[in-house]
Amino acid sequence: MSRSHVRVFLSIALAALTLAAWTGVLMRFGMIYGMPAWAQNFGAVRHAHSHLMYFGWVTLALMALIWAELPALTGRPLPRGVTIQMSLTAVLALLSFPAFWSNGYGLTAIGSARLPLGSMAATLNGLTWFLFIALYVRATRGLRERPLPIQLWDWALALMGLASLGALGLVGMVMANVREPLLQQIFLHQFLDLFAVGWFNLALLGLFWANLPDSKQARPPAFSLALLLIPTFLLGVSPSLLPSALFWTAALANAGAALALGVHGLHLWRRRRELAALTGLALSGLASVLVIAFLLLWPGLWEHFAGGQMRVFYLHLFLLVWVSTALIGQVRRWVAPASIRFERWINGLWSAGALVMVGGLLGLGLAPHLGTPMLWWLHVAAWGSLTVASAGTLLWMESMSAFARTTTLSSATSLQSPYS
Ligand code: HEM
Repeated sequence: MSRSHVRVFLSIALAALTLAAWTGVLMRFGMIYGMPAWAQNFGAVRHAHSHLMYFGWVTLALMALIWAELPALTGRPLPRGVTIQMSLTAVLALLSFPAFWSNGYGLTAIGSARLPLGSMAATLNGLTWFLFIALYVRATRGLRERPLPIQLWDWALALMGLASLGALGLVGMVMANVREPLLQQIFLHQFLDLFAVGWFNLALLGLFWANLPDSKQARPPAFSLALLLIPTFLLGVSPSLLPSALFWTAALANAGAALALGVHGLHLWRRRRELAALTGLALSGLASVLVIAFLLLWPGLWEHFAGGQMRVFYLHLFLLVWVSTALIGQVRRWVAPASIRFERWINGLWSAGALVMVGGLLGLGLAPHLGTPMLWWLHVAAWGSLTVASAGTLLWMESMSAFARTTTLSSATSLQSPYS
């Protein structure tokens, strides 16, 4: 895949981030002023937001960046079919937005048929991920040594495959008309949570290590981290349904995984000046997530805070402050900004917005204990989210103009080349 292809897919991922972020802003202000008439199904809009973020933003950007870094690590060209796989992943990820917007995972009437559009979109997206896994296996098969980034990506893909089985379980339950709440929740969180903590965490760490020239000598955990991450998805299941033995298995594994992630975080923090912009903020987000993993061992704390606003706070601390901020830093290494001043300005806007938004979400979660009005925190989260979405939009526009600049430049040089 050429450098310009990498840039095209990163621009599409930034477009998905922008659209999903503005959908989030719509919901945030909708919680204060009510949703508009054209977006009355809040649950479906929330699904459209979260799936576009997962499929179109994080997954597409991670895949493009892995393909971009891989040849330097393997010493081999990429296998044929990578551009086709990336195009399919991009198109299907974008289509998931209208598919979920209409009715989430429910049935949508199209003419005389009633179709589960959300489930269909998730299944088709899943098929392109399997294609990605197959091509990755072909690209890395039989390597004499597997450097740390490749080991981390191996496990990232194994956990992505395991998470996808949860989606198959959900589809199977709909088709077999099985209504077992615990099983439904287990499949749902195996899909969404393991996908995030497994694939996102490990793939991102792999990218960070690929950016460090002497990562071959580094020995932070890869296999044990992957193993410990697997049961943590159970913490997403509702406390009223999860048996206590399963909770403790998940909570202890979560604390172990936090220790292993902490080893990576510490190494990367020490070398953050060699890494992409925004790495400091991203690693601070990761550190906060790790502290929460230990707090959850406090008896009763998880049961008390697992549902409602605290879950939304935790999700966005992880997905926005750690995963998305780190990913933007990585994307920036491929999409050169127009000017350093403009880059710093957007970084500042993103950082301020993300911190205000998660601060507002934390305030919302603690409002009943703090005795502060919920409305106040809803405003903080909404205005923070507006700032994040504006920064995302500027990033996307910047990537488009960088792409136009390089296209103009390359056509100019190709015109000149016969005479040079
Ligand atoms: C501008 C940034 C963002 C805004 C304004 C935003 C807003 C929202 C809102 C309003 C909700 C619904 C909360 C509720 O029901 O109480 C939500 C849920 C969610 N968001 Fe975000 N979000 C943002 C960024 C992200 C990112 C970057 C990701 C993932 C990479 C993400 C993934 C999710 C997920 C997984 C859910 C839960 C969905 C569910 O339970 O069905 N969000 N977000």
